[in-house]
Amino acid sequence: MAELIVAFDLPSGRDALALAGRLPGLRWAKVGPVLYNREGPSLIKEFTQRGIRVFLDLKWHDIPNIVASAVTAARELGVSLTTVHCLGGRAMLTAAATAAGQDLAVVGVTVLTSHDAAELESILGRGVPDVGFEAERLGRAALHAGLRGVVASGQELGLLREALGPEPLIVVPGVRAPGDPAGDQVRTIEPAEAVRRGATHLVVGRPITAARDPVAAYRRLVEALD
Ligand code: C5P
Repeated sequence: MAELIVAFDLPSGRDALALAGRLPGLRWAKVGPVLYNREGPSLIKEFTQRGIRVFLDLKWHDIPNIVASAVTAARELGVSLTTVHCLGGRAMLTAAATAAGQDLAVVGVTVLTSHDAAELESILGRGVPDVGFEAERLGRAALHAGLRGVVASGQELGLLREALGPEPLIVVPGVRAPGDPAGDQVRTIEPAEAVRRGATHLVVGRPITAARDPVAAYRRLVEALD
């Protein structure tokens, strides 16, 4: 069964932990750069001490040695899942995979959903006829370097699952239950559809954290996954 990861994009660690304590059976928490910069490793320890696995989503893209050290630090902290940019290149991806070991899964961000073909062309300095093709190319490079999977929007999910085979993790943000507001997400997908297309981890933030009744919203998502 696919895992539900709640993205705690909240103003403080206190808010995040208070909400986490209200969500029955919560297995995964995503900590992003804002909360990490505010609260640091202590928040990660708080989650893991409560038996909640942490997805530390800092999307590293640096020289191989630094990324390897960052991944090692995340592993030592007890993080279960983390991200690097596939555009960081083969040596960086290999260094990240090697540093992760068995207990920490590193997945690669292929193409940011904020990048369309024109933006990618200006970054890469060549024509990009198809963003999906670039995502697939980068996903293959990530797996070849030893990463455990990729992050994908609902749009590329089916394509990537087909291209990468059944094994890799595919982490999908932008998940919305029927009737949830999309917010600023442009490529949303419903939970059951994401699972059908091969997602292993579904990341959901505001439909839970900004709901009038976050516990009811969380329960609806858990039920949709069942
Ligand atoms: O929109 P929502 O609040 O559900 O977003 C959940 C998480 O997904 C956010 O923490 C965001 O960082 C992440 N994300 C995203 N869109 C992407 C990549 C990541 O919303 N393309």
